[in-house]
Amino acid sequence: MAIVLSLASVKGGVGKTTIAENLAIALGRMGRRVLLIDADIATSALSALLGLTERNPNLHDLLAGRGDPNRAIYDAYGIQVLPSGGTLGGFVRADPVRLARVIDVYKNNYDFLIIDTPPGITKYSLAPLKISDSILSVTTQDPSAIEAAVKLEEACAAMQLKLTGVVVNRVRKPSFFKKLKLYSRAQIQSRLRTPILLGIPEDPMVMEAATMRRPMLFYKPKSAVSKAIWELARKIGG
Ligand SMILES: Nc1ncnc2c1ncn2[C@@H]1O[C@H](COP(=O)(O)OP(=O)(O)O)[C@@H](O)[C@H]1O
Ligand SMILES: [Mg+2]
Repeated sequence: MAIVLSLASVKGGVGKTTIAENLAIALGRMGRRVLLIDADIATSALSALLGLTERNPNLHDLLAGRGDPNRAIYDAYGIQVLPSGGTLGGFVRADPVRLARVIDVYKNNYDFLIIDTPPGITKYSLAPLKISDSILSVTTQDPSAIEAAVKLEEACAAMQLKLTGVVVNRVRKPSFFKKLKLYSRAQIQSRLRTPILLGIPEDPMVMEAATMRRPMLFYKPKSAVSKAIWELARKIGG
């Protein structure tokens, strides 16, 4: 049975999509059978990064009760992907309540289902979290992101969802973040009950890789960001 793992945050723009994409690819490279699922069905950012928003059927269709789940899987960078559609109409017709049943279809065929989730505490963000064996909270050092991570902890505790670790993304150099009054790892940990698994450094190449539609792991394989992704993959699937 697959382990279902979600990347989650209440605040947007912290790196969920970037980490989901690269973590899934790293686990695939480690020989794990991985299905990467774009459950951020409003923005479909992950599917767009992978050039898969025009495929039918997709998660919009499946959540509308249409299409064969076994035909909604597409290859990208050595892993398999269940993309979201890219249209507003598709989003409006999609019912997140159907997600649990859709995902069940895949569980026997993979070691990991890695789910990229939308921000917020809504029926859209909670649907994937409710079916996850493990939720990774993604934050940055910004006070607003850390307060959002506290909210995610509260929501997961209230609903008995399995928050297992925190990834601090876009970590700046100490000299820089002190000047900006950003929080250190120890300060972030003191605000959270969930253990911090690792930090991923800030690197403008991450945005460049996205612009080039290349996963960071392939675009800058020797970068500290890629090394951190490998370390995360080893912690999860090694
Ligand atoms: N470690 C990083 N360093 C620099 N930029 C990053 C890093 N991680 C993500 N980004 C950039 O931050 C933006 C938001 O990342 P994204 O993965 O889309 O976040 P989310 O899915 O949480 O909204 C994107 O432009 C992405 O390229
Ligand atoms: Mg995203």
